[in-house]
Amino acid sequence: MTYFERVKQKPISKTPIILGIESSCDETAASVVKNGREVLSNVIISSATKQAEFGGVVPEIASRAHTEAVSQAVKRAISEAGVSFGDLDAIAVTYGAGLLGALLVGVSYAKSLAYALDIPLIAVSHIRGHMAACYLADKSLQPPFIGLLTSGGHTAVTVVESYTKMKILGSTLDDAVGEAFDKVARVLGLSYPGGPNVERLAKQGQNDITLPKMLKNSGGYNFSYSGLKTAVINYIHNKEQKGEPINKADVACSFQCAAIDVLCYKAIEAAKEYGINTVAVGGGVAANGYFREQLVKKCAYKSINAVLPPKILCTDNACMIAAEGYIQYINGNFADLTLNAKASVELR
Ligand code: KG4
Ligand code: ZN
Repeated sequence: MTYFERVKQKPISKTPIILGIESSCDETAASVVKNGREVLSNVIISSATKQAEFGGVVPEIASRAHTEAVSQAVKRAISEAGVSFGDLDAIAVTYGAGLLGALLVGVSYAKSLAYALDIPLIAVSHIRGHMAACYLADKSLQPPFIGLLTSGGHTAVTVVESYTKMKILGSTLDDAVGEAFDKVARVLGLSYPGGPNVERLAKQGQNDITLPKMLKNSGGYNFSYSGLKTAVINYIHNKEQKGEPINKADVACSFQCAAIDVLCYKAIEAAKEYGINTVAVGGGVAANGYFREQLVKKCAYKSINAVLPPKILCTDNACMIAAEGYIQYINGNFADLTLNAKASVELR
């Protein structure tokens, strides 16, 4: 019998302990999650400071850093969870989307370990993982809810119809919101990672520069962030050409307000249209304090429940991969050893 035939025959545990592995970008993460909702450990080894020297993620540096860190991350996740390798019921790994070389490190490691332990391997989409972080944040959260995805690679409003079905209402037509934060950070001379630095600077500024809230009142639930980024660039160039001083904190604050306003607006519109009273948010931008505050306030005003994972579960982590892995596990959706990494995966 092959490995895949063997694991397919194993009974599904009602209280599974799942190891999650994540290596799609610059975080090597490993985590143990019990019953899909209880985080037993959350190890994140980041190569962001190495990447910062280059002003952004260098794929080769990311892959090498994952190779050096993956084994250590997994061992720490197991030991900090107070379990042993023998206690694991399955291994969930991010297979895409992300940097191919980086993903391959996690995928290869997960395949070998699943084979060695003779337990199911689960292929997890990083995008679905970000939404699954919400189940860890609110243990009573159940579909249907409006899922707002706000990462560096994706921006979308969805209806999470069931644990396995997500209907995309709209997504970005160009840049993702996190990408816009990173690009604006670069224009403002802020170091990588851009998002948190824009947020920090914005705290010292005023929202007094008029910037476009792209597609706010058009385009259905789609977004556009490249126009907002260009408006920031044009504003700075104009000021430079006129020899006028630029208040970078005001630029950061005005950009952040415009970017966040559209996110909150479209998510709440979707909740109203679909008669759903919960909005749950996933992705790195959901770590932004201003966004969190605005969403909670605006949702409360409409009697909508806002679910925001703790900041550490908004940015890349492996708990969210194990949480999504749990959903696949109980549905018997296992991968075989031909599993490969994919740079892009469909949003679904
Ligand atoms: O979800 P994530 O960690 O990785 C992807 O799957 O893309 O998101 C990373 C993105 C980056 O663009 C980063 O600048 C942004 O999330 N981000 C933030 C903040 N923290 C991370 N953006 C705004 N404010 C933050 N505090
Ligand atoms: Zn991510």
